[in-house]
Amino acid sequence: MNKNTTGINRAQLIIPTVTIPSHPQWPELSDDETIQLKTEIAVLLKEQNAVLVAHYYTDGRLQDLADETGGCVADSLEMARFGQQHPAETLIVAGVRFMGETAKILSNDKRVLMPDLNATCSLDVGCPSDAFSAFCDQYPDHTVVVYANTSAEVKARSDWVVTSGIALPIAKHLAAKGERILWAPDKHLGGYVQRETGAEMIFWPGSCIVHEEFRSIALARVRKLYPEAAVLVHPESPEAVIAQADVVGSTTALINAVRNMKQATFIVATDKGIFNKMRKVAPEKTLIEAPTEGEGATCQSCARCPWMGMNSLQNLLEVLKKGNNEIFVSGKLAERAKIPIQRMLDFAFREKY
Ligand code: 13P
Ligand code: SF4
Repeated sequence: MNKNTTGINRAQLIIPTVTIPSHPQWPELSDDETIQLKTEIAVLLKEQNAVLVAHYYTDGRLQDLADETGGCVADSLEMARFGQQHPAETLIVAGVRFMGETAKILSNDKRVLMPDLNATCSLDVGCPSDAFSAFCDQYPDHTVVVYANTSAEVKARSDWVVTSGIALPIAKHLAAKGERILWAPDKHLGGYVQRETGAEMIFWPGSCIVHEEFRSIALARVRKLYPEAAVLVHPESPEAVIAQADVVGSTTALINAVRNMKQATFIVATDKGIFNKMRKVAPEKTLIEAPTEGEGATCQSCARCPWMGMNSLQNLLEVLKKGNNEIFVSGKLAERAKIPIQRMLDFAFREKY
């Protein structure tokens, strides 16, 4: 029988093919048009007691607006925390679907809107809940740890939810208690966690179509051109890319590295939307995109998440005007999915992450 890295029959793992949309072009806007849109949105946010929570991979103008209006631009851990703690009645989540769902699960009393409900994630699409549940059933003695980039149903089947910012400490904590881990869906992040913690793990074979495209041989060449540069890598990248990193971490960790490290030049292996914040925290530093071209390259995303790219000032304004694109998670499902998410947040609070 055909076995994969999880050690179970491929026939038993039904992994859908992920259709990758072409990256929407962020609209050309003059400065006047941008100011006009931002002003209209800011007024509506205030009128509706709403706050904008954006991810670092979204259009820079959206990120700036979140900062300017008292919202937040953050990694997925901080987006979840911010949304839960903020007193606004409405959360506008500019990111991908799982981020909106997590916000709703944590704050059932709040209205959660997203600029585009089609903004999904290859990790989420590649881990359907029924197949995942059947996979879990085969390993009843494993602790189920799922990445935040999953549906509410997959979260509801888990013991712990983690984000890239807290995956390592939680896996260390579980390994120290002698627990065996069933990890889903990102095999690259899972592999990294296993190498770092020595935990006994089995993996769901999912991946991020953006980070998977970084090329190790081409990266080695770029490093030769910039021997003084520090290499920053998001852990959704392949092992051979992670192996060349000076810093491996969440989007926030990579931004902090640019801010705090003494190097003047950084080679960055993550979605290029992050450059907006990096340039703001360290305008004097030089940022170089890690290559997605070279041997075996497909460059379908070219380091720009097509789903994050679905968020724009225009559709954000539409959503505020119409009140559409609301996220709903049914009561029972939300209750069950909240347990492992809250467990992660409580751990982060206790351990001061
Ligand atoms: P972070 O939590 O590090 O921001 O990662 C989210 C994500 O989707 C990265 O691709
Ligand atoms: Fe998902 Fe990758 Fe896009 Fe992040 S960058 S949202 S992991 S497809």
